[in-house]
Amino acid sequence: MKLLVINGPNLNLLGVREPELYGKRDFAALETYIRESCRELGAECELFQSNHEGAIVDAIQSALGRMDGIVINPAAYTHTSVAILDALKAVALPAVEVHLTDIRERESFRHVSYAGMACEKTFAGLGFEGYRRAVEYLVNRGKTI
Ligand code: DQA
Repeated sequence: MKLLVINGPNLNLLGVREPELYGKRDFAALETYIRESCRELGAECELFQSNHEGAIVDAIQSALGRMDGIVINPAAYTHTSVAILDALKAVALPAVEVHLTDIRERESFRHVSYAGMACEKTFAGLGFEGYRRAVEYLVNRGKTI
């Protein structure tokens, strides 16, 4: 089971960025947490972060034929990007959406998730744990197929 884990814009500033919302742990800590979770759950992972929408589209396309699933936190592009939605639909890999915060409890413009429309599951508001839950979901899904 090979998973591509994508993090979108401003997540590289974790720890600095609005710590009251996103926590004090930095992005390196998140990457370590994701790698550890994958190792413990028996998945291989490739991590990708970008602040650029097109680069995220390219990363999703690069998963085709190489990866078994995608975990994605598209960050602000969640609420704006039809291109990321289309890329997820195009590769048609099982995908899970993650958000550190609970987007349903925040401003109304965060209630719409385009990427989520191409994802089998969403974990929001669980902090780092959401990534682990997403990996676990995809690993277990793989076992039943
Ligand atoms: C986020 C939620 C988004 O609304 C926001 O733009 C982000 C981070 C989250 O992980 O909670 O950048 O995806």
